[in-house]
Amino acid sequence: MSELLIRGRVLTFVNEPQGIDDTASYRYFEDGAVFVRGGKVVETGNYADVSKLAGAAVEVADHRPNLILPGLIDTHLHFPQTQAIASYGAQLLEWLNTYIFVEEQKFARPAHAAAVADRFMDELLSNGTTTAVAYCSVHPESVDAYFSAAEARGMRMIGGKVMMDRNAPDALRDTPQQGYDETKRLIEKWHGRGRAHYAISPRFAITSTPEQMEMSQALVAEHPECYVQTHLSENRDEIAFATSLYPDAKDYTDIYARYGLLNDRMLLGHCIYLSDREISVLAESGAVGVFCPTSNLFLGSGLFDRDRFDRLGARWSVATDVGGGTSFSMLETMDEAYKVLHLQGQRLTPFASFYRMTLGNARALGLHDHIGSLHAGADADIVVLDSGAKSAMEYRMRTATSLAEELFILQTMGDDRCVAEVYVAGKAMKARKAGAAEKRQ
Ligand code: GUN
Ligand code: ZN
Repeated sequence: MSELLIRGRVLTFVNEPQGIDDTASYRYFEDGAVFVRGGKVVETGNYADVSKLAGAAVEVADHRPNLILPGLIDTHLHFPQTQAIASYGAQLLEWLNTYIFVEEQKFARPAHAAAVADRFMDELLSNGTTTAVAYCSVHPESVDAYFSAAEARGMRMIGGKVMMDRNAPDALRDTPQQGYDETKRLIEKWHGRGRAHYAISPRFAITSTPEQMEMSQALVAEHPECYVQTHLSENRDEIAFATSLYPDAKDYTDIYARYGLLNDRMLLGHCIYLSDREISVLAESGAVGVFCPTSNLFLGSGLFDRDRFDRLGARWSVATDVGGGTSFSMLETMDEAYKVLHLQGQRLTPFASFYRMTLGNARALGLHDHIGSLHAGADADIVVLDSGAKSAMEYRMRTATSLAEELFILQTMGDDRCVAEVYVAGKAMKARKAGAAEKRQ
């Protein structure tokens, strides 16, 4: 079995930070190491201790003085929108109709889906993201392309065929039965194969008829092991349209609740304009509201109220929402998250940010035994961050005096240029820089 000792400054969380100086929430090893065997973490700790355990013959990847963290996790994005990022000038419904529903039609061609899936996975990895939850297009072939590209790289990925049977072009509509049958087949093919997890994916209430919602309900009941993902309360026009289509529902959240879709494996993108009642319903079910700051600003959607989620005991995660979101980088995403919260008088500490991109998002997915931290037994999905990768960062870093300050600089100024290396199940995925790996003398 292959073994590797990854050396550097190691940071991994054990709990959600309760304040700026909650040192009990993380483990930090200034001269640290992660010992990896067969794609799993054997031990994380001080280099002096861990290297003894690893033995003298082990290969060492020396990343000093860079930071070593668990791979970053993105809990909501759209793989068919990889080439539709930065589409100008529209809010949600117009943007979907003008750009997105045109772009997604290209995924009827398997060769196109395969090419974009490869590029999508590489883009995630170059940004240090090792696990993501994505929507594929309505075409089942797009799901095959997605999971094949993930499998080729050994990545733990979650995804599913979007189901949509109205308010979209003919070429993007399935039917309730077709959506059910295709989803069922894809679950059987992909869920639990290697590191793949399936997400049952009715796009949102606007593009699914009540009949399709019933089919989604059946799928969720028959496959409680699968995730469920949709969009909720992103934009005022969307809310008015969705609730007009389901006049018997109390509110937008109730549409999904009525069809039995809310559970602790459900991810609801955006959740901006929810009432206290709706957030409490999410809290009771364990469903997760997904905060997508770059998207919410880019599409002019609104501001996610994190404090109200916390106060009402509802779970939340963070995500890029590419291509409504404007970057694959979780660092850039947390930069915008900080600003969105700041605008509302809410605080996001640097430790809380890095917790959220790693263990926080892993917990939201119920995958914290496997990913999101570097505990013994975890998957060796790891990112190495260079806080001085850009000249302006390097210059700023000269005045930094604490880890918290360094993390905040990384989040505020950083992007894919700061990702020095990324490991998937212990395998280095970026071209190794000269001298990055060497046999210990
Ligand atoms: N709501 C329904 N579909 C989408 C989508 O593709 N992106 C965003 N941001 N919101 C949506
Ligand atoms: Zn989305």
